[in-house]
Amino acid sequence: YDRSPEDRYHRRIDYLRLSVTDRCNLRCTYCMPASGVPKLDHEEILRYEEILRLVDITARMGISKVRITGGEPLVRKDLAYLCRQIARNPLIQDLSVTTNGVLLRHLGRKLFQAGVRRLNVSLDTLNAERYAAITRRDHFEDVWAGIQEAERIGFSPIKINMVVLRGVNDDEIEDMAALTYRFPYHVRFIEFMPFQPDHYSERFLSSDEIVERLAGVDTLLPAEADRGNGPARHYRFPSSRGKIGIISPMSHHFCPTCNRLRLTADGKLRTCLFAVEEQDIKGLLRSGASDEAVEAAIRAALQRKPKAHPLNEAVLRKCISRSMSSIGG
Ligand code: GTP
Ligand code: 5AD
Ligand code: SF4
Repeated sequence: YDRSPEDRYHRRIDYLRLSVTDRCNLRCTYCMPASGVPKLDHEEILRYEEILRLVDITARMGISKVRITGGEPLVRKDLAYLCRQIARNPLIQDLSVTTNGVLLRHLGRKLFQAGVRRLNVSLDTLNAERYAAITRRDHFEDVWAGIQEAERIGFSPIKINMVVLRGVNDDEIEDMAALTYRFPYHVRFIEFMPFQPDHYSERFLSSDEIVERLAGVDTLLPAEADRGNGPARHYRFPSSRGKIGIISPMSHHFCPTCNRLRLTADGKLRTCLFAVEEQDIKGLLRSGASDEAVEAAIRAALQRKPKAHPLNEAVLRKCISRSMSSIGG
């Protein structure tokens, strides 16, 4: 018996992605312009008590998995406190964080102690100079050390997210995949989405091409998905320790099995990464609405969750109303 709510396309929604900040200590070229994006005022951002109330309400509705995102979530003060409080909710079975890893070396242990077990870390290259070119900040060594520290601490699985960009880092597809021989990390190749339109078509590289390249490294075996029911397709090499994931938002739809809901740092509910519509939950919370009223608003929003996002780049681009860092990826 599954208690999670269903949308009108019979998708069970049991996963909440919580963006806790729009700020970031990197400036990835595929995410934002060099100047960054306008920052939200402090009062615009949901307070921890507001986030926790929403987690309670959605957990009672049937959400059992929560992923913390940003911006860069680790730049928010006292993130471990928030994680500990979420992990305490007996209805939340899975708490995970998506981070760029820059602060992982310093904050990893606190997060683990707070109850976080699953970690996704963005890393698009194994070359420090190239890392600085892609992220516009010189933090490769911090991130790599952070990932290894996270492994020592005991996070599992650790997933590495690589956004594949033709002519920028696509010559590292094979090397990144080969990490799975040496480390228990799951390496995931993500298709470039047009959040930053510059050079989009020349840099886009499809997941079919990625799979072809991987098949040139070694036999690609299908692998089991793990918890999260995420958007990735899973593979592994015969003797590898980690798995390989392919995330293809642009060329193949995973929308029919989408199980997620998103809350932006400023308290807007988004039923899809590319939703045009947002539901203002913060306004409700701050106007003294009851839990029942908040729940009703969430259910109403869920019923309008789009069936799928457009695959056509030009149409999709029209649906992009905010930067990736303010939605939370
Ligand atoms: P788990 O499956 O729980 O490990 O998480 P995940 O893979 O969904 O999370 P992560 O934050 O690592 O996201 C990886 C990539 O998938 C990012 O580029 C996300 O933007 C993308 N992604 C995640 N969910 C969706 C979604 O609902 N729609 C689209 N189009 N992309 C998504
Ligand atoms: N296309 C694909 N993935 C992106 N991410 C950020 N911007 C984009 C984009 N334009 C990824 C980050 C991170 C995840 C949450 O989203 O690299 O791993
Ligand atoms: Fe890079 Fe993520 Fe920060 Fe965007 S939010 S600049 S993708 S680290």
